[in-house]
Amino acid sequence: MCGIVGYIGPRDATPIILNGLKRLEYRGYDSAGLAVLNNGQLELRKDAGKLSQLVEHVNKSPIQGAPGIGHTRWATHGVPSARNAHPHLGQTGRVVVVHNGIVENFLELKDELTAEGIEFQSDTDTETIVHLVEHYMAAGLGLVEAARQTFQHIQGANVVVLMSADEPDKIVAARIGNAGGVVLGLGEGENFLASDIPAIMEHTQRVMYLEARQMAVVGRDQIQVETIEGVPVKPQVHVVSWDPVTAEKGEYRHFMQKEIHEQAQALTDTMAGRVDFARGQIRLNDLKLTQEFAKRIEKITITACGTAAYAGMVGKTLIEKIARIPVEVVIASEFRYSDPIIGPQDVLLAISQSGETADTLAAMEEGKRKGAALWSIVNAIGSQAMRIADGFISMQTGPEIGVASTKAFTAPLIDQYMLAIHLADLRGTLDEKTRRALVADLRLVPDLVSRTLEREAEVEKIAYRLKDVHDCLYLGRGINMPIAYEGALKLKEISYIHAEGYPAGEMKHGPIALIDASMPVVCIAPKDPWHAKMISQIQQAKARGGTVIAIATDGDELVQGMADYVLWVPETPWMLSPAITVLPLQMLAYHIASIRGLDVDQPRNLAKSVTVE
Ligand code: AGP
Repeated sequence: MCGIVGYIGPRDATPIILNGLKRLEYRGYDSAGLAVLNNGQLELRKDAGKLSQLVEHVNKSPIQGAPGIGHTRWATHGVPSARNAHPHLGQTGRVVVVHNGIVENFLELKDELTAEGIEFQSDTDTETIVHLVEHYMAAGLGLVEAARQTFQHIQGANVVVLMSADEPDKIVAARIGNAGGVVLGLGEGENFLASDIPAIMEHTQRVMYLEARQMAVVGRDQIQVETIEGVPVKPQVHVVSWDPVTAEKGEYRHFMQKEIHEQAQALTDTMAGRVDFARGQIRLNDLKLTQEFAKRIEKITITACGTAAYAGMVGKTLIEKIARIPVEVVIASEFRYSDPIIGPQDVLLAISQSGETADTLAAMEEGKRKGAALWSIVNAIGSQAMRIADGFISMQTGPEIGVASTKAFTAPLIDQYMLAIHLADLRGTLDEKTRRALVADLRLVPDLVSRTLEREAEVEKIAYRLKDVHDCLYLGRGINMPIAYEGALKLKEISYIHAEGYPAGEMKHGPIALIDASMPVVCIAPKDPWHAKMISQIQQAKARGGTVIAIATDGDELVQGMADYVLWVPETPWMLSPAITVLPLQMLAYHIASIRGLDVDQPRNLAKSVTVE
């Protein structure tokens, strides 16, 4: 989960690469570097820490030239340091590499290369790649063929980008397995490459994507793509509609706060072109779902990681309730090694913001291997999870930059609600009146979101009261049980406070022992079918001296009478309530982290897209 940018053309590559890396910093931010070719010499600058360190370094000792490649890192092998930062030079100083992923056989390769007299300058697995390329070049191969040999010898999921001072007319890039994307950007007399679209969208909106086991030779005027085995490929050229402004913070202090406040529009966008309010119908064209197959589906397995998995848990309740199809939710990192019972009559539905999460992609591969239909709900346009699926639903929320996912959590809640209606409609298990009522409720969502977000100031007040707590328990039931998990995850990942989400009914079977005056208990208790049960959970927590923060529906005096603090949400149809009850929890986590002065958008140890196991 690193960010890579490359440029070849008449302009100085340095500013293009540094600006591109800035837009990819959410992918990894513990060290960074770049290399450019200047008068036949490779010039490198690299540093530990944020990209701003590198920018300062380059300002102090400028470099310029082209082509150029750059990298922002999330360390896997070798601690974050200038020594382990990419790019890595080969022993000749004439070849340089940047890399995303893990070379799983790097220890054997390192031993072989060390035996040949190669001295390693870093602790990274990446360095073996450039030494191997030089090994093949020393045997007489040019950069492209030496790279091809190397790609066939390294194991694991990797994205590799190489340059040679002796072949200044090209950059060689390869995608071996699922180690994050490679986007090739088409310019006029210049070309670009990057791990993700935001890095290059200010220069071009015409892009191609490298598939797994493909490599590209990127020149000024042309990009040649072929398989690692040498078979020519003609990738489709896509035109990306995202405008660069969406990748700016605007008047907000953090991308996370901006993305929280984009949700009324994001949920409107995720319904765009899919909801026919007049007929009370849902259209999901990219899913390519036939009535014949819809009627044959025996089980749906939802697989994902982190926040996306919690969205899937809400989807389970929606699909089972509306479409009456059995649904199981399996964490992707478990699914891929569990020899799952799934087959041609089943669907594997993967949910992913980035569409590049290694565990989720591997789970999809496993589902495909077992013959299941592959569906995905994805935000990143053109990402692997979108491309390898038989059918997909794009979240349509635009780029999500903050590492803590917000709008890419609420959008799939609405997408699964629409999917459930679509499935039931095709299976003929939903009467017209009910279907129209369910569809009509969707019209309420943007306004309900806006009205909830307008209450940010109230949330901020409670955040000040909780800013110094060490632990926090989140409780929810039924369709809002996953919101307890999501609320706790948001607090954990950006404020570093230990928080636990728990099915409220389970509290009395253990966690209740944790409760005392120092343990805040967040109870998600809107007016839904589980409201009465949640009331007794609040009473149990209060009886042990817990400090209760309740998410409650406007006017709920019962909860108001019991809770220490109430975060109010407007009355919402219960099947849509998770998209509303989560909003105060997103804002609570955001304000606690921001009051604690933490780096909300780039929390320690995390990255936006987890492209390694
Ligand atoms: C959520 O805030 C985290 N960034 C993380 O849990 C994330 O949801 C998980 O890594 C899955 O990412 P994906 O949706 O891009 O696959």
